[in-house]
Formats: sequence, structure tokens, C-alpha cells
Amino acid sequence: MTATAIQRVGILTGGGDCPGLNGVLRAFTRTAILQYGWQVLGIIDGYEGLLDPPRARPLDLDTVKGILPLGGTILGTTNRCNPFDYVHYAGGQLTRRDRSPEVLRSLELLGLDALCVVGGDGSLHIAKRFADLGVPLVGVPKTIDNDLSATDVTFGYHTAVQTATEAIDRLHTTTESHHRVMIVEVMGRDAGWIALESGLAGAAAVILIPEIPFDLDRVAQALAARSQRRRDSSIVVVAEGAAPRGGQRIYQPTTNPAAQPRLGGIGPWLVGEIERRTGIETRAVVLGHLQRGGTPTAFDRNLATRFGAAAARLIAVGGFGRMVALHGTAVVDVALAEAVGAQKHVPVDGELVRTARDLGICFGD
Ligand code: F6P
Repeated sequence: MTATAIQRVGILTGGGDCPGLNGVLRAFTRTAILQYGWQVLGIIDGYEGLLDPPRARPLDLDTVKGILPLGGTILGTTNRCNPFDYVHYAGGQLTRRDRSPEVLRSLELLGLDALCVVGGDGSLHIAKRFADLGVPLVGVPKTIDNDLSATDVTFGYHTAVQTATEAIDRLHTTTESHHRVMIVEVMGRDAGWIALESGLAGAAAVILIPEIPFDLDRVAQALAARSQRRRDSSIVVVAEGAAPRGGQRIYQPTTNPAAQPRLGGIGPWLVGEIERRTGIETRAVVLGHLQRGGTPTAFDRNLATRFGAAAARLIAVGGFGRMVALHGTAVVDVALAEAVGAQKHVPVDGELVRTARDLGICFGD
């Protein structure tokens, strides 16, 4: 379909929310209206809004006014809706079914000539499956975890790192006053990017990431050695997905079998392990969703804006089945298949880890 044949486009935000989503919605809407004269429909609550009956609201220059600094997403989102494998849990009963035909019907009912999916790994996987079925769609990568391999960086990540760093800065003063060890648990799923970059920026003594399984005795030795050198307070930044060598990752308990496994709890678990080995009073703080909330940094606002405008341009040239991405300093587009092919992990021999090691930061290995 050519740009002139397009009349109405849709946009949805899927998966966990992330600072910068509203910047994408604003830039996409403004570009669609001002450059191409398209109507824009915002789908409510991600793919949920495309199930039967569809839920959408018009987006125009007024509705996207003033939303650039807002965290979250004005459209709502969910990370529990895969239309190809829709899981429902009620009254003790778990059911699964394929509801993708409803999505195809909704797209027709809403009169959408193209769709823009703003999402992370999960939402982009689903987008690829719809693209394979012939849905004219484009993708925009988002996640605070920065774990998508086809883009150098995702918006939301910079804000999460900034939030975590500010928290670590605050924790330094109380930790120093009490001569304690403070463990700061950060998000990131299977990737240690947030832990590594906030730990480096926040001058942590120890950084524990999923890519480097740690040895508890090594961590304890590093902390005890600091204490002997009269550095009697230390910050340990641990990624929620980190695990001891030969051990398991820690998940939060849930009573809902339909819920996705929720990582979390390694920080509080480490408290006892470190105190037992070192005798140093140890406390833990789990930053959790604080890292996803609040206003995006200027970097994330601008990356979100560039991605949103580029997604509209990609639709205009018929670049369906593709996703916008940042390569170096340039916004480019890549095939969705490439985008969802592999997760991006911290390279354990990379320059960032090397720099941290050069500064004496312990990774517990
Ligand atoms: O993928 C983003 C993320 O914040 C992860 O870092 C974290 O593991 C997960 O989402 C938490 O998801 P939820 O909001 O469903 O608890």
C-alpha cells in the first residue's frame, strides 16, 4: 500500500510500560497527521484492545499535546495478552485458546490500513506472527532492559539507569553512616545492563549480573577486604536475574498460574548469605517498578521521538514487517525476524565489564 492509499493507521503499546512510550505516540501521531494526513487510532491496552470487541480512541494533535514528559502510556498496556495463546484464569480454571482471528477481524472493523506495534521482545514476537499472516505492520522497540539485539539501545533504558543511579547515590550516605553493606536489586530480566551501568555510575563495590554467575565466597571476600581497608561501607548492585554459580535464579511467589514468572528476591536473599560470611550488617533495597516510572530523560524523549517519526515514515514507504532501530547514531530499520531473533546480553569480555574490573569492581567470579 502506498502512502497516498493509506487513510487510517493504528498504534498500540504492548508489554511492560516504559518511560518514552508517550513520546513515541506523540511523534508517530504528529508525523502521521502533519506529513501524511492520516487518521490515527490508539489501541487501548495493547493487543487486548484488538480482541473482540475492539477498543480504540482517536489520537490527534490535541490528544498528544503535553504528553512527552509523561511516564507510562496514555493508551494503557498489558504484558499478559498473546492472542495466539490467550491464557485465562478464573474460578481455579486455566484455559488457553487462539484468539488471533479476533485481532484480524478488529483490524478490519477499525478500518486500519497499517498498524504500529511499540513493544519489547514478547510484543514484537507477536507482531512478527501477524506480519507473517499479512498484516501491514511496523515495530518500535521499547524496554528498560535494553535486551533487544537488533537495536543498539532501546528508549526507557537510559531513564531506568538514571533512576537506579540516583537511588544508589542516596543509599551511599546512609550506608556510610552505618558502616553497612547495602544491596540494591535492580530489574533487567535476563540481562545485566541496568545493573552494570547503574553500578558503574553509582560507584558500587560489587556488581552481580546474570551473564556472570557469582561465587558467594568471592563476594564476601571482596566486601571483607574493603572493610579491612577501612572502607567500611559497600554498595552491591545485583540484577534480578543474577544467580550464584550452580544455583537457581529467584522468582517471586504467585498464586496465579496464568501469570508470567516474576523475577525478584535475590537482593533480600543475599543479605543473610553476606552477613553470615562477613559479619558485616547488611541491608537490601529492591528498586522494582520505580525504575519504570516517572518522566523520561532527555535522551529517552529524543530517542522515542525519533523512533515514532521513523515508524510513520516506514509505513509511508511500505516497510511492513520491519522495525525501527538505532545503529550507532543513525535510526535505521531492520526485519522483525532479525529483531526478535536473539536477546542482547552484556558481553562478559566487553569494554564496560573490563572498565569496571580495572576500577576494582568485583563481579563475584
Ligand atoms: O521487561 C521489563 C521488566 O521491568 C523487567 O525488567 C522485569 O523483570 C519485568 O518487566 C517485570 O514485569 P511486571 O511489571 O509484570 O512485574
